[in-house]
Amino acid sequence: MSEPFVFDPPTRILLGPGPSEVPARVLSALARPTVGYMDPSYVGLMQELRGLLRMVFDTKNDATLAITGAGTAAMESAVFNALEPGDKAVVCVHGYFGDRLRQIMERAGAEVTVVESAWGSPTRATDVEAALAKAGDVKAVGIVHGETSTGVRQDIPEIASLAHKNDALLIVDTVASLGGVEFAADAWGADIVYTGAQKCISAVPGFSPITFSDRAMAAINARKTPCQSWYLDALLNLTYWDTPPKYHHTGPINLAYALYEGLRIIDEEGLTNRTARVKKTAQAMWAGFEAMGMSMLVPEESRLPTLTTVCVPDGIDEAKVRAYLMQQHGIEIVGGLGPLAGKVWRVGLMGASCQPRHVILLLAAMEAAFKAQGVSVPSGAGVAAFSERMAG
Ligand SMILES: Cc1ncc(COP(=O)(O)O)c(C=O)c1O
Repeated sequence: MSEPFVFDPPTRILLGPGPSEVPARVLSALARPTVGYMDPSYVGLMQELRGLLRMVFDTKNDATLAITGAGTAAMESAVFNALEPGDKAVVCVHGYFGDRLRQIMERAGAEVTVVESAWGSPTRATDVEAALAKAGDVKAVGIVHGETSTGVRQDIPEIASLAHKNDALLIVDTVASLGGVEFAADAWGADIVYTGAQKCISAVPGFSPITFSDRAMAAINARKTPCQSWYLDALLNLTYWDTPPKYHHTGPINLAYALYEGLRIIDEEGLTNRTARVKKTAQAMWAGFEAMGMSMLVPEESRLPTLTTVCVPDGIDEAKVRAYLMQQHGIEIVGGLGPLAGKVWRVGLMGASCQPRHVILLLAAMEAAFKAQGVSVPSGAGVAAFSERMAG
């Protein structure tokens, strides 16, 4: 007789582009008893959750909720609700996820103008201005705030004011940034903003926050045709967040407990304190990489603190380094995507994964992995530079 299958996932140090480490408080929230979606306790939780979602988006938007599904479901909800077939859209593509936004806009039936930038550079506002003028009558502009494929942090306010000047909505992807990098939906003029639960919020994947400004809701209410997706229709989803809720689909009850707990942890620390802590830890990690002779792909002014693309030094087999980190220490970092495959490692400091002890272990383990390949690195230089910056 064969042995029964026993699933016992290992404990990893998740320093990749997500998911991030899940705090014990969130894991135990998941294990609480499942109730019905009409249960008074759950209805109360949904309203509390909305308050915390407004906190993390930094918005007063009434239409703030979470979509049942991965970040891509919220991405599709943003696009399918904003755009009707035949509408014009501008999409800024500076990496893999900007291109996903383009593909979704095209599937929504929009006439899409692409503003393309090199991987590793942000989109220039002047390029967006020119695209808006050329396309004319654009309904929505889409852009990624934190591009996980390149480690670029995109400035938003200037793009938002260009979109508004042209009467267009601004859709912003914050899947890799919200809760870890400064973002202010209302103050910056972002109309539809979505994220995932599994990165900087450190709840598990499957329930994805989204917010719609009053301008966005006015445009959605004025549509001539219903949203292309019944499941992702914002108007239908919002009825599910009413008190009392109306049945739309069966919500992910236990994922809501997890998201609530993840957001409470952010609220207890204070969003501003948290983004400052992540930035400081990232800057110290960059100093550590530099002390080991490595360079970052993205110039510091556009570098995303939650996801760093660090260039693979000459003479190093990048896949072997990742395998060493995983096998010897259970550390996950990830290789480059598309044109960056084999050229960079992607190192995440998202949510609960952003801890100095993890970075110290990573730097020390990378040094050992380089030495195992016969590449010399000044002993302890990475850890020393990191510690010095953290103490400063
Ligand atoms: C910037 C960005 N947008 C969208 C997504 C899609 O999210 P998900 O994989 O949860 O569907 C990701 C996932 O890595 C991402 O990093």
